[in-house]
Amino acid sequence: MSTKTAIVTGANRGIGLEIARQLVKEGVRVVLGSRDSVKGDRAAKSLKGGELAVAHALDVNDTKSVRRFVAFVEKEFGVPSILVNNAGVYPEEPEAKVTNTRTALWRETFETNLFGAVRMCREVVPLMEKVRYGRVVNMSSGLGQISKMGSGSPAYRTSKAALNAFTATLAAEVKESGILVNSLSPGWVRTDMGGADAPRSVEEGAETAVWLALLPASGPTGHFYRDKKPVPW
Ligand SMILES: NC(=O)c1ccc[n+]([C@@H]2O[C@H](COP(=O)([O-])OP(=O)(O)OC[C@H]3O[C@@H](n4cnc5c(N)ncnc54)[C@H](OP(=O)(O)O)[C@@H]3O)[C@@H](O)[C@H]2O)c1
Repeated sequence: MSTKTAIVTGANRGIGLEIARQLVKEGVRVVLGSRDSVKGDRAAKSLKGGELAVAHALDVNDTKSVRRFVAFVEKEFGVPSILVNNAGVYPEEPEAKVTNTRTALWRETFETNLFGAVRMCREVVPLMEKVRYGRVVNMSSGLGQISKMGSGSPAYRTSKAALNAFTATLAAEVKESGILVNSLSPGWVRTDMGGADAPRSVEEGAETAVWLALLPASGPTGHFYRDKKPVPW
């Protein structure tokens, strides 16, 4: 069987690096997207996956960078089978509310958490459509769950809710083309973003994303998951 290729964005640290590690363990070639090439190369080497772990420069906020990255993947390894939109930011200020959050902070948050995934999908999904196979995994958050919406972190919450809406829209759009599109909440995870007090390890945080990346053809599409179980949007 030929080796599948996965793209993981924001894979130089945190949950993204762990998703890459688990996919490599499953025999998947992973191209780790990293804003900083040196950090990306270091992260890829740390996986000890030999030729299965490769890093390449990627800033999901920059359309040209996204196009260069996807062109590199296609040229070197062919059409990617898996896209994990993991790169994310949380630039929230303490005591943030809708009424005191600057427009610039809303824009900064959406630029990566929503438009980063949009830019990646715009380049990768048409390639997947041609081969009629693909798995798109969007790293959302429990904070973006509309059915349980609370206050605080307004820009982050709405960016992840928007990412969920994007997941459902894209899933419907590619329904007949062999591409499964889902999003997930990893829970609260010990990373630079989650902080030291978070209850979950990166291993636990990555597990559902890897499961969604490796779904069989009969697998679900257009859903939101936590711990491999569907949860309400
Ligand atoms: N940790 C949690 O508790 C938690 C909970 C729910 C959801 N999430 C989500 O899970 C994902 C990973 O979070 P994490 O905890 O692993 O965060 P993290 O440790 O802060 O890592 C974030 C990753 O995203 C990358 N990134 C940020 N902006 C980027 C851009 N413009 N282009 C490319 N890469 C970019 C970072 O790269 P640099 O190193 O260059 O900054 C880093 O590799 C995020 O989408 C986050 O929202 C996390």
